[in-house]
Amino acid sequence: MSAIEVTFRSGLARETRADTRAVGLFEGDEPDDPAARELVDSGEARPAPRKVAVTHEDASDGARRRVIVVGLGKRSELDPERVRVAASTVCKRAGELGSRSLSWELPATDAGEAGDVAAALVEGTLLSLYRFDRFKSSKGGGDDEGADDDDDRRLESLEVAGVTDVEVDVERGAVVARAQNAARDLQNLPANVATPEYLAARAEEVAGLHEALSVEALDRDAIEALGMGAFASVAQGTYVEPRLIVLRYEGRDTPAEAPHLALVGKAVTFDTGGISIKPAGKMHEMKFDMSGGAAVIEALGAIAELGLPGRITAVVPATENMPSGRSVKPGDIVTAMNGKTIEVNNTDAEGRLVLADALAYAVRAGADRIVDLATLTGAIIVALGSTYAGLFSNDDDWLAEVEAACEATGELGWRLPLHAEYLELTKGRYADLTNASETRKAMSSYAAEFLRQFVDDRPWVHLDIAGTAWGMTRPYVGSGASGFGVRLLVELVRRAGIPG
Ligand code: BES
Ligand code: MN
Ligand code: ZN
Repeated sequence: MSAIEVTFRSGLARETRADTRAVGLFEGDEPDDPAARELVDSGEARPAPRKVAVTHEDASDGARRRVIVVGLGKRSELDPERVRVAASTVCKRAGELGSRSLSWELPATDAGEAGDVAAALVEGTLLSLYRFDRFKSSKGGGDDEGADDDDDRRLESLEVAGVTDVEVDVERGAVVARAQNAARDLQNLPANVATPEYLAARAEEVAGLHEALSVEALDRDAIEALGMGAFASVAQGTYVEPRLIVLRYEGRDTPAEAPHLALVGKAVTFDTGGISIKPAGKMHEMKFDMSGGAAVIEALGAIAELGLPGRITAVVPATENMPSGRSVKPGDIVTAMNGKTIEVNNTDAEGRLVLADALAYAVRAGADRIVDLATLTGAIIVALGSTYAGLFSNDDDWLAEVEAACEATGELGWRLPLHAEYLELTKGRYADLTNASETRKAMSSYAAEFLRQFVDDRPWVHLDIAGTAWGMTRPYVGSGASGFGVRLLVELVRRAGIPG
């Protein structure tokens, strides 16, 4: 993976020692960069987003250097998302040109935005460079991630150059993008490798790097001993050992009155559907059913690396969902950790079962704000495609904070409703609840209403990421595993520490 070096250099873009330089072009601007001006005059460079043109210039050390000019649209409309896309456009062209070192001139924006623009340049580049080819015996030639050639893997360094000091933002962009790429690795690893124990080992590895993190991984006996009958019922059908992974973070400089945040991530390492088995067609994609958990684990690593203030408990219930002679059966009744009884009428609605206990655990741990991420329903893909995650919340203020983090990071979310009529559908015939109703109505809202009954009225936001965890078409993540949620969670915690 990209062990690319990322730096900020204070100074003029043209004084770089990189072999390739990138310059953004705004609409209506007369660039003062000679190379950019030459390309504008010749009509090759255009300011529309994603347009690219290339020329060469003589560097002061006598070398010839490539200059890539990319359109950034209107200066007044520049936002970090457009910058991520531009960075990915440049990254791909630099790869085709065989660049080893790339220097991005920090586009001139309002002072307050410069840091976010710099972070976005780094994110867009590092996310674009991501490949998952560790199981290919000859590298390159894979047909996923758009790699029919993989020239751009040769990029060894990225520099952001400018007169505004954005060093901390460049570093932040690198930390966050590397964490997101690490989440993509966990997603992409097949289920015979990325087992619950593997995820627990990764959480232990992440925690081992940071003083402020500690980790615990509970095994099947401990899960049962806690009374997590819903989680345990999903895990009972598989020979692979489940884990309840708990990461705790206590940032330096965390004020005593700071809220205790719980981040909960669904980590079904393979979802066959269980006895209510799924059709074979796309079942292989269900190795991605641990995407929420992967995002939570890697986001905690990034939060710790950035040393953000905050008090966080991350809860990641990890198990396979398999059919076997000891699987939970449709109609079985189980008891969750908070005492609620559940009829398991569809064993493929397993996400809400594992999350029920994970959320109840977060409540018992004393959380006073909760966010969960889960590849929970196929219906959310029908409603929102791969553009927005579905957002559900019992608290408008807490939701507003999550929405702000979505906007800032380009990991978008759109609110969908909870309603007493959906809640009504979750009532069981023989037990308190049923995990699936026979009416196929409002299935994403149904699932959210189900989860709500385990958060004990704490401010909570549920993100249904079934559409965005993979299959997005953002240029910088491609169509494979996206690592969705890492940027958003880091930003949420970062914002909590920024007054105002
Ligand atoms: N992991 C799936 C949801 C999913 C489906 C994610 C497709 C990504 C792509 C979840 O466990 C599931 O199977 N949900 C069912 C629930 C139903 C049985 C009530 C669904 O949405 O069909
Ligand atoms: Mn399922
Ligand atoms: Zn699932």
